[in-house]
Parts: sequence; structure tokens; C-alpha cells
Amino acid sequence: MDGNGRWAAAKGLPRLEGHRRGAERLIETIDSCIDLGVTTLTVFAFSAENWKRPLEEVSGLFKLGEWILRAHLARLEKRNVRLRVIGDITALPEFVRGPLEDVMESSKGNSAFTLVVALNYGARQEIVAAAQAIAADVAAGKLTPAAVDWSVVEARLQTAGMPDPDLIIRTSGEFRLSNFLLLQSAYAEIVFASVFWPDFDKAQLQLALAEFAKRERRFGQTGAQLQPTSTK
Ligand code: FPP
Repeated sequence: MDGNGRWAAAKGLPRLEGHRRGAERLIETIDSCIDLGVTTLTVFAFSAENWKRPLEEVSGLFKLGEWILRAHLARLEKRNVRLRVIGDITALPEFVRGPLEDVMESSKGNSAFTLVVALNYGARQEIVAAAQAIAADVAAGKLTPAAVDWSVVEARLQTAGMPDPDLIIRTSGEFRLSNFLLLQSAYAEIVFASVFWPDFDKAQLQLALAEFAKRERRFGQTGAQLQPTSTK
């Protein structure tokens, strides 16, 4: 959800106003995804590197996260949305961690749509944690090095049990993945949108989905080899 700060600066507004508008855009995007048949959306809300921002912005972001959750809880529930989180949320302040954990628990049975919020998330940190878990299992004799394959790694990522992303959208005209889902994005299509996140409306989402639909996904095979049911 990149570009909140620049969106605000362009309008002579404080950065936090950009984040507030970005948070509202997120709620609208969930509705748009459901209307357009998307079943899982993962958003990068706070990276493990975002702690380096001024304290005022960091605490403002968490207050915003707590507010947006409370303000739209009934709507999310009504639309049968499940909330999941990736990242180390133990480091988050209690006033936002508590409500997040409550909603993750209460929405467990919701099945129409899954919103995955990446909070204090970094792909390299996730990979290091998975490597440590595998090393610990090997040291404990539960696993042999030869038995370590992709399924062993995948099961130790924070996204275990979630589908890999088919499409990654980076807003605000930047052309980077910035430590987001580095392993899971191995075969993802990437679309770069020039608009700032607060301006990423349903029409923009439809443009990104149309671009995705035009791509030929080969997953390392030739076009002729591909089975229509291929998912990886
Ligand atoms: C990136 O824009 C956006 C963020 C770092 C925050 C995104 C968070 C929300 C939209 C609200 C939800 C918040 C939580 C914690 C659940 P930027 O600030 O990097 O923009 P810039 O690159 O234009 O400065």
C-alpha cells in the first residue's frame, strides 16, 4: 500500500492523513476484491523496517490500525471475511495486538474472503526463522538434511497453509518487492501501478486484473506442456 506519504504531501496534508485515507482505501479494496471474485488479499501494512520511521508516525499507524479494525468490524463480519496476520506481532503495542488477536479468533470460520495483513513482516526475517526451525528439527533428530525439500520449508513460513500470490500489485510507481513474500512470489505476476495507494480505486484494481489476465503463466514449462489445471 505504497504512496500514502507522497499522496498527502502532494495535497499539502500531514503524512498520517495519507495513511488514514490509505486505510479507508483498504476497506474499499476488500469490497472490490469480493465483487471481482478475488478470494485472498495480502497487504503490506507495516514492514519490519518501518520501525525506523519517526515515533509519531509509527504510533499513529498503530492507532489507525486499531481504529480501522473497530470501525469496520461489523462490515467485515457481514461480508464473511477472515482476518489473518503474518509477521511478528508480539512486538506490537497491546492496544492493537489484543483486538487483532480477537478478530483473528472470531473470524476463523469465515470463508468468503481472507484478508492477510503483513505487520512487522519482512521476508528475509521469515526465511531466517524458517531456517532456524529446520536447523532445530535437524539438531533434535526429527529431520535429516536430505529430507529438507520445498514442502518442509513452506510449512515453516508464516504463510503456511495459504496460497502463493498469483498477482502482486505495487502502487506508487516504485519497481521493487521491498522484502515482501520473496519466496512465495516465485511464480507471481507483478503489476506496477503508477498511482499512490489512496488513489488505487476499483477501476485501478480492474486494470491490474486485466493486465494479469493477459499474462501467459508458464511456471518454468513451455506453453505446450502446460496443463490447464496447473497451479504452481
Ligand atoms: C506506505 O506508504 C504505507 C505504509 C507504511 C502504511 C500502510 C498502512 C495503512 C494503509 C493503514 C493500516 C495500518 C495498520 C498498521 C494496520 P509510505 O508511507 O511509504 O508512502 P511514501 O512512500 O509516499 O512516503
